[in-house]
Amino acid sequence: MKKGLQRIITSLLILLFIGIDLFFPIYFLLLHHYKGKEIISEFHKDQPFVIDDIPCVEKKKDKDFVILNLADVQMCDLEDIFHRNIIHQEIDELIQQTKPDLITLTGDQTWSNENMISLTSLVAWMESYQIPWAPVFGNHDFGNEGHTPVLDALKCCEYYENAKYCLFQRGPSNLGCIGNYLINIKEEGKIVRTLYMLDHGILDDFTVEQMEWLTWACKGMKENNGGISPSSMAFFHKPTTEFFTAWFYGEELSIPNNLKAKQRLKDTEDELYQIGKEYNIQNFVCGHNHWMHFVSKDENNITFTMSLKTGELGGYAEDEDYYGNGATYFTISKEETLIQDYFVSREKYHIGKEEE
Ligand SMILES: [Fe+2]
Repeated sequence: MKKGLQRIITSLLILLFIGIDLFFPIYFLLLHHYKGKEIISEFHKDQPFVIDDIPCVEKKKDKDFVILNLADVQMCDLEDIFHRNIIHQEIDELIQQTKPDLITLTGDQTWSNENMISLTSLVAWMESYQIPWAPVFGNHDFGNEGHTPVLDALKCCEYYENAKYCLFQRGPSNLGCIGNYLINIKEEGKIVRTLYMLDHGILDDFTVEQMEWLTWACKGMKENNGGISPSSMAFFHKPTTEFFTAWFYGEELSIPNNLKAKQRLKDTEDELYQIGKEYNIQNFVCGHNHWMHFVSKDENNITFTMSLKTGELGGYAEDEDYYGNGATYFTISKEETLIQDYFVSREKYHIGKEEE
């Protein structure tokens, strides 16, 4: 009996080792590139704006509304397979501690060409919280530059659109990037905040068409809100020039080594910033820079948040001044938006990967 048991255990261990050895070759053998279905829906400046098409999240009366932003989660099918659980546990803690009403993800949810298992696992994990969530794309969500990802941009859209609690809606197909959409936060039918979710994708900058669409959307929101632009926020992946201007010269809200001067880094303003000033976008939120995070306000009272990176996958900052791991969250009351960072314990979630 004892011998029999030993034999079974030995056989199981052998099978386990063979399984692990075969996993990676099989993964690459079966590797297939999945293309999502293209849906042509072209934007024209003269088309009507339909506010009822915008997904809404309800803010409870006289209660704060919390948006938790997860930045650069950076899952990867193979390389991080043994660390995935750690990032899931970290997200668990972030949600338990901040109790969000909405979770946003500012891009680079995955970070390599092998993005199928990681995206499937992240979507399932986000769905398990049963809290509305809203991602935008970053420069790594469809793989690394010059390579073909397992899931292309359209397939990633399908993963998000098929998730019950995910508010993602693909935008028009002629903007140069597909993941542009809006969300309204409402309290008793009144819009409390409009969120502009902008796709940076693999682009370095926003496209001309994308900014035309954004202007059209901002105008539409204003017209549908009694002629007053709702207080708004914009979420996207890469920081624009104004972030760095605010960082160097803005009013310190949470900045290391702030220089406290009032001047701009350049004479011309980014188009996004101009649209923001005109249509009451009061908060710009981005990720992408793993090694720094800050909140700063500029001379026009616009707040710039470079979010705290979530999880150490894909590299993070070791530097003492900038070390950070966790998430930035926004507490929205009637008029104000309080911006805070929640830092997780380095000992608990450190996986020993260096900055890349
Ligand atoms: Fe990035």
